Amino acid sequence: MKKTENKIIAFNWKMNPESIREAKKILTGLKKVSSNTRKTEIMVFPPSLYVNELKKTYKGKKIIFGAQSSHPLAVGSRTSESSYLMNKNMGLTHSLVGHSERRESLSDKGALIPERVAALLENKMVPVLCFGETKRDSSGDYIDYLKKQLKHDLKLVKEKDLKNLVLAYEPVWAIGSKAKRAVTTEELFSTMILIKKILFKMYGKKSEKIKILYGGSASESNIAELLEVKGVDGFLVGRASLDSKRFTKMIKEMEK
Ligand code: PGA
Repeated sequence: MKKTENKIIAFNWKMNPESIREAKKILTGLKKVSSNTRKTEIMVFPPSLYVNELKKTYKGKKIIFGAQSSHPLAVGSRTSESSYLMNKNMGLTHSLVGHSERRESLSDKGALIPERVAALLENKMVPVLCFGETKRDSSGDYIDYLKKQLKHDLKLVKEKDLKNLVLAYEPVWAIGSKAKRAVTTEELFSTMILIKKILFKMYGKKSEKIKILYGGSASESNIAELLEVKGVDGFLVGRASLDSKRFTKMIKEMEK
């Protein structure tokens, strides 16, 4: 993927909606708004159970379908997992990795985040690696946390694959209905600088090829101000991605 001026909006449906019928309705709204986009790249990560059926109803090229998770083993005894190869063979080109809701339910060792990222890249797929601190403390411990997390999660990435890597900075405290608030533009701006510095230390100038999204309570009400933050290549959206009125407003804002 070439780093261009186009911004990404990625929709993480998580374990929603309750039926394929509802999922198709949401997709209808997405198809409608996507038909007029010129500069927004739209990705959707539905539950794996729905993805094939949804893909069948969409013939266009504007919406990219992805998996919410990809195991690094091609096949094997891993109950409830889907592998990168299964996803690839279903025609998916993208996969979330390490969403905080997955990190919570897997032990550190079992999470296999570096392996998941590497398996996707080696197979010409695009990992959207979610990372971010659980708390933002005034003493700045989160800075070390982010450094360690990025170094660990990206340890198997080869420089030649950086152009296919997408990161999603998702401060855990700003995600989901329990979030007290979204990030402020000041917080996001300073954290983007920090992330870019960490990546520069790891890869030098080549790090500029990595796209960085923001996620955590991004919505139709704050997208305009978040879009002003320099260095943000787009958004990963949870709740607002299930409501066509809300995401239509977001995409229209990105198209301005
Ligand atoms: P939210 O979720 O937009 O509902 O906060 C974001 C995410 O978990 O990716």
